[in-house]
Amino acid sequence: MPVMSVRPAAEGDMPAVRQVARHFGLLDGWPDGGDFLDAERRHGTLLVASAASGQAAGFGGTLRRGDVTHLGDLFVLPGHQSSGVGRALLARLLGGAGPRVTFASSDPRAVALYARSGLRPWCPLLYLTGGPLEVPPGPPVRTVGPDEVASLDAAVSGGARTETLTWYAAIPGVTVHATDAGYAFARLSGDRLTVGPAGGITPQDCAQAVLATLTAAAPPAAQVAVPGTHPLVPVLLGAGWRIADMDTFMADEAALAVLRPDRYIPHPDLG
Ligand SMILES: CC(C)(COP(=O)(O)OP(=O)(O)OC[C@H]1O[C@@H](n2cnc3c(N)ncnc32)[C@H](O)[C@@H]1OP(=O)(O)O)[C@@H](O)C(=O)NCCC(=O)NCCS
Repeated sequence: MPVMSVRPAAEGDMPAVRQVARHFGLLDGWPDGGDFLDAERRHGTLLVASAASGQAAGFGGTLRRGDVTHLGDLFVLPGHQSSGVGRALLARLLGGAGPRVTFASSDPRAVALYARSGLRPWCPLLYLTGGPLEVPPGPPVRTVGPDEVASLDAAVSGGARTETLTWYAAIPGVTVHATDAGYAFARLSGDRLTVGPAGGITPQDCAQAVLATLTAAAPPAAQVAVPGTHPLVPVLLGAGWRIADMDTFMADEAALAVLRPDRYIPHPDLG
């Protein structure tokens, strides 16, 4: 089915974009009227692809961290897949200059499209889930505002994104935690805590900030998206946590020069 248009999503396109997102279960756990699609629209780029019928066939979105572009979304409805919609969206989303990074799903079309855009698969991104942790006491953790951790986040994630962090911290259930050498955002939705973004001066500092946040919050269930090279992988899997899902962390050379996947824990949707 031919694509009629790819254009920036306007407010009036959002119900159709969210319908596509819901088809893929992307909005589970996000509050109505305050999800990551709003963040992409406000602080990044959100494009909608319409079929000849005028109906939304798919959408794609990016967020920026300084010069780094994080491709957060590329989704095409099954009836429109494999007809060039994803490629058309991607050409607009990743066509600019600067470092680029994404988390590719297991769909071979995703990895292929991103590789053709200059990104390479670097390591798995493990979506780990588990319950309360019994770990040795770590450094003291305190609750802070997003401004206090913005510069460390910029150093480990590859660029500044103060507006996105401020927007996220204002969402109900979100708290920001800091140790002397690390930080972690956490969001409680129902009885599940999502930790990330998080980071630290060293890989151990990042791990300690996440563990301190998890033990301080002591939620019944938690999830963390951990790059495969991160020291948290053996700790959490050793504690009995499970791999609920797995993506592939993909980046171009320029992104790898500024992003520290061993001392950074991304947010699953915000990067
Ligand atoms: C992944 C997805 C976004 C791609 O969009 P799409 O519109 O279906 O893809 P396109 O038709 O634009 O392009 C697919 C490309 O993959 C290539 N491809 C297909 N199967 C392939 C395989 N096994 N190995 C390598 N390349 C493959 C095709 O040749 C095509 O490339 P070309 O246009 O250069 O020939 C879409 O299929 C989708 O929504 N999948 C389900 C959700 C998902 O996993 N999204 C990715 C999130 S990271």
